[in-house]
Amino acid sequence: MVALIATTALAAFSLPLTLAYPSPQPLLGLPTGPAPITDPRFTTWNAPGSGDVRSPCPGLNALANHGFIHHNGKNLTIPHLVDGLAAGLNMGVDFTVLIGGAGLLASPNPLGGSFDLNQLDQHNFPIEHDASLSRQDAYFGNDYSFNQKIWNMFLAVYKGKTTTDIPTAAKVLSARTQDSQARNPQFTYGLREFIFRYGETAIYLQTMSDPVSGVARLDFIRELFEKERLPVDLGWRPSTLPITLASLGVMVNNLFAANPQNVPEGATILKDSYKNLIEGFIGGSEVLGNLTGGISKQVGL
Ligand code: HEM
Ligand SMILES: [Mg+2]
Repeated sequence: MVALIATTALAAFSLPLTLAYPSPQPLLGLPTGPAPITDPRFTTWNAPGSGDVRSPCPGLNALANHGFIHHNGKNLTIPHLVDGLAAGLNMGVDFTVLIGGAGLLASPNPLGGSFDLNQLDQHNFPIEHDASLSRQDAYFGNDYSFNQKIWNMFLAVYKGKTTTDIPTAAKVLSARTQDSQARNPQFTYGLREFIFRYGETAIYLQTMSDPVSGVARLDFIRELFEKERLPVDLGWRPSTLPITLASLGVMVNNLFAANPQNVPEGATILKDSYKNLIEGFIGGSEVLGNLTGGISKQVGL
């Protein structure tokens, strides 16, 4: 049943998409929706201690710091992630099963059914990529820790603003692409990187606000990236609507439409070399189509 038809306010762009928002339904008895804000995990935050591991992902690190997923960052199974990501950030089951499944491929034993956060720093497959928002490229060394110099580029593009918007978020992506392209002789950018980079921007926008508007408070986003903390103390609350592959896909599409470098970025997508790889690990072009909200069609997949 469609409870809400959310229309993006992006009619000015060439590819406005609408999102038919299904009512959250329990799936296979798994939890949906965030934990109540009185859940002590929202106000409990502990930095990683000795022996604990963290990742290039500010979202998973923050959830581990709050104890929504194992604080030591180890032995993360899909059911554990489904539970923790829904409780802390209202991530939909579809997102967590798909991306958690990709994360499993970083484990030395993917069939073992779990991974540790530090295994996600593996470069170029399955997820970690160049031109991140807050981490340096693997070519320069550590690709997993927050990096202030890289993050300053993000802040420079948002200078003077207190909230995010789709065009500025798209400009950040473009600025980071240009920087990596200019400085990293091993810069790698294909469809896999494109999907993850745009998807990750959609995730920070949606988790810090809602699955539709793209308007989030910049101080919330800074706390997420800079302190790897959910900004409950600043007044943030988890989205009341679940963040799903469909909601992310629509925003990826609208970010792409707003990109000032639309053509160069689109043109460098190595669709043929990545098609089989992506389909193989995320389960086919239907899922890919959901994730990218139609971009896969545009680039001929
Ligand atoms: C099981 C689910 C998840 C997995 C396996 C995962 C994995 C990763 C990995 C490996 C990266 C590094 C990519 C790179 O920048 O090179 C990444 C980046 C990112 N992730 Fe996650 N992630 C997951 C869920 C989440 C959630 C729930 C959030 C919500 C805030 C999130 C937000 C981000 C953001 C914003 C980035 C970009 C960081 C940057 O560019 O500096 N992720 N994720
Ligand atoms: Mg990276």
